[in-house]
Amino acid sequence: MNTQHVALEYEVHDNFSELNSKEIELLKKALEAASNAYAPYSQFSVGAALLLDDGEIILGNNQENGAYPSGLCAERVAFFWKGANRKENKIIMVAIRAISSVVDTAHPITPCGSCRQVMLEYELNQAEPITLLMQGSSGQIYKMKGIKNLLPLYFNEEGLRKGS
Ligand code: THU
Repeated sequence: MNTQHVALEYEVHDNFSELNSKEIELLKKALEAASNAYAPYSQFSVGAALLLDDGEIILGNNQENGAYPSGLCAERVAFFWKGANRKENKIIMVAIRAISSVVDTAHPITPCGSCRQVMLEYELNQAEPITLLMQGSSGQIYKMKGIKNLLPLYFNEEGLRKGS
């Protein structure tokens, strides 16, 4: 028997001062995306902004539904749109933010488990790490290189992915 330990590494920034202009732009776009979310049930509006390798920025936000499970998180809206419409491009970076009129969002918003699994598959397919920026309506920013870090012992049945 042996015991394994998993270490998680990410940067914590108190403000924008140490971030580059692309990172700041992406965080601003994610907030803009959050402001256009359709979240009448939770009042928790999430925005995701993806930076592609050709410089294009893709926005997604959560889309809820009266039949609750039918809705979708901001991250998956953005990633699936990218998969559907920009198949050949790689994702360099993703910024995730949230705003709410009912709960405190002044802290980094970290993606749900299903979104981690979905984002990771895009990262595995493109074989280049995606930088993840996480922030709330304001406050600290977490920066992490590689979605892989968010999901230790992730499900990765490569044979299934490649259809072999
Ligand atoms: N939500 C996201 O859009 N992304 C996440 O990573 C977590 C949660 C959405 C789903 C739902 O519309 C609302 O936030 C409250 O859970």
